[in-house]
Amino acid sequence: MIEKQFISKLSANSLEEKFKTLEKGAVSWQSPSNIALVKYWGKYGEQLPMNASVSFTLKNCNTKTLLSFEKKNSEGFDFEVFLDGKREVSFEPKILKFFERVEVSLPFLKNYKFKIKTTNSFPHSSGIASSASGMSALALCLMDMERQFQPEISEAYFNEKASFLSRLGSGSACRSIEGPLIVWGEHPEIEGSSNLFGSKYPFEVHENFKNYQDTILLVDKGEKQVSSTIGHDLMHNHPFAEQRFKQANDNLSKLIPVFKNGDLPEFIKIVESEALSLHAMMLTSMPYFILMKPNTLEIINRIWKFRNETGSNVCFTLDAGANVHVLYPEIEKKAISEFIKKELSQFCKNGEFIEDKVGLGAERISNTKF
Ligand code: DP6
Repeated sequence: MIEKQFISKLSANSLEEKFKTLEKGAVSWQSPSNIALVKYWGKYGEQLPMNASVSFTLKNCNTKTLLSFEKKNSEGFDFEVFLDGKREVSFEPKILKFFERVEVSLPFLKNYKFKIKTTNSFPHSSGIASSASGMSALALCLMDMERQFQPEISEAYFNEKASFLSRLGSGSACRSIEGPLIVWGEHPEIEGSSNLFGSKYPFEVHENFKNYQDTILLVDKGEKQVSSTIGHDLMHNHPFAEQRFKQANDNLSKLIPVFKNGDLPEFIKIVESEALSLHAMMLTSMPYFILMKPNTLEIINRIWKFRNETGSNVCFTLDAGANVHVLYPEIEKKAISEFIKKELSQFCKNGEFIEDKVGLGAERISNTKF
């Protein structure tokens, strides 16, 4: 299988030798969230997507993770997770599953005791998915350890494997390693695209998309009633599944000329249709469910009205929740910021929103940031 490229090539003996050189230490990474323009919804096998997706990497919404490690002789995995300085046992089952999945690619995992200290730039209860930024930050810390055993690995291999590992933590996390525009999932028109990892969108992108803005309106900050994992599962035996996977791949094809020529009206049509199609899948699953709230619809209608009246290029997208991502070109920043403050913030919980924009991906940071 193709995955073989990520299975550690080190023999048990040479690993033992290398472990001796690394008794203990710590590494830290900061990794961003991302917002899909063409959505991933439906998976098979080990976190493989049913269709290709493309996302903007974000800049301000991120997770910082410090991974400290110490050699041990006991059996099994040994780790503790801390969120904002407090032990967070509720994260541990997900991380245990992640460790089990990636062990064949990172054979040193059982030789160390880990402390994972993590903090998000956005409030944990904001309804912003922390799994993309969180799982990618952890995957990058582990890759950083692997690089200490194998300093010869290339930057390209480092990023590809970090994305591959992130995917095994949370599908969309594999699109958070680099930026500004990342494709995940095999697509016939995008050379190099893979189901195993995300990679940079390889074609020309128009100036209009440079520094694209994303203001995230926090409509509902509670826990989601239906997790993404359950939602993905409901795409098995979904009556519209095949059509939906085809639609997503077709929408990605349509975006290729749009990214090149900067056609914003066409961009808006594709992006908004993708968001509504994603939620249409939820409405038509069995059991069915609704993640949008009345205020989500209020905001969408206000955006449409504003666009009709002003000719603006503002549009929206949604992820698996009630929050609205308001997308717009940098050149419209002043007018749209005013519109958001004046007309849309009233529909947010406590008037809260987060101003973000397209970013370039994850960064190694100093351990002293914790
Ligand atoms: C709606 O990546 O959170 O945000 O692979 O089960 O962890 P798991 O799911 P997750 O799904 C996110 C789906 C989405 C669309 C997208 O980001 O493409």
